[in-house]
Amino acid sequence: MSEPTSDENWTYGNYLQLEGLLSLQGEERGISSDEMHFIIVHQTFELWFKQIIRELSEVRNILCQEQVPEIDIPRAVEHLGRTTEIFKLMGAQWGVMETLTPQGFLSFRDGLGSASGFESYQMRKFEILLGLKNEDRLFGMDPLDTFRKLAKNSPNDAAILADLEEITAKPSLEESLMKWISRTPIMGSIYETENDQSSVQNYVDAHLSSHKSMGELAAERMSGYGVSDVEKANARFKAAHDGAISFLMPEGELSRARASLLFIESYRELPLLAWPRKLIDAVAELEESMVKWRHSHARMVERIMGRRIGTGGTSGVDYLDMTSQYRVFKDLWAVRTILVKTQDRPKLINPSFYGFNSNNEA
Ligand code: HEM
Repeated sequence: MSEPTSDENWTYGNYLQLEGLLSLQGEERGISSDEMHFIIVHQTFELWFKQIIRELSEVRNILCQEQVPEIDIPRAVEHLGRTTEIFKLMGAQWGVMETLTPQGFLSFRDGLGSASGFESYQMRKFEILLGLKNEDRLFGMDPLDTFRKLAKNSPNDAAILADLEEITAKPSLEESLMKWISRTPIMGSIYETENDQSSVQNYVDAHLSSHKSMGELAAERMSGYGVSDVEKANARFKAAHDGAISFLMPEGELSRARASLLFIESYRELPLLAWPRKLIDAVAELEESMVKWRHSHARMVERIMGRRIGTGGTSGVDYLDMTSQYRVFKDLWAVRTILVKTQDRPKLINPSFYGFNSNNEA
């Protein structure tokens, strides 16, 4: 399709390359309406995947800069917001797929051979870009294995593998985000300054002490309510507190990134933390929308083909249900478990640093 010359105008069809686009649905094979619907739904998802990769690359590129200019953060939030809306739309799109009846699907399923969404390299690309680790996938599988096998088929398949290898070698969005978060000033203490380590440790210790009291009070209340197995409840609160300690100090070493996350979540109202909070919320919303999308894929599959084995050779619905347990931004979720009530958080040091005058002290 040719571009218009300078004195011509685009037509709608030229601009969108509709002639090419609308010739890609397999009609030359004399397919049924059901199969055309199956292809179009897949193709629209893949188009959205393309846009998702674009949006998430922008966010990763913003966050992986050595110094992230504050002026770039609203843009990162906008890209994340668009991606979330796309996931929500794709979540609703399974409803269109579900108009395919089980018998309707069986009528062309054999023709798919071993072709499966499992081979969607764009899906793998955005998972890797986000930062989903192999050890967090089922059976610790390496998603590139599929593409190493396929790469032998054609130069195009080899290029797909090379692209996936390239994205794997780059910092992920999760890594970049956590690095950026780790530089948050905590209680007015600046990252990598002389006394920062001890100031952050003091903050973490104060929070943990409050967290411990919260658990002890809750246990006391429970025994007052006449909960039958107080011992068990006590053990749970103790385990929760041990969990909080190892979250903030994995293997005894203070994690500044997690302490920063805790600080941002605990003092959400501080003006200086407004954009970091918005960014974190946007990432959490994105992951939530992605998990829901995975979950509704499994429900759609269960409805159309029950618990058959997938064309990609997995257990089918069970496999898909297990993938909806995947979490990329684990620390963002985990920090929620260890928060304390606003009135129990450590007293804010240096409120004016965060844009609060001391009368408004938290
Ligand atoms: C009748 C419709 C569909 C059925 C029955 C179905 C079934 C399945 C099954 C059973 C799997 C597990 C892998 C396997 O063993 O094949 C799977 C994976 C997948 N499907 Fe679907 N699917 C359908 C529609 C779609 C559509 C429209 C898309 C959009 C692109 C899609 C994208 C994917 C992706 C990306 C995976 C890989 C998931 C992962 O490994 O995390 N599927 N599908």
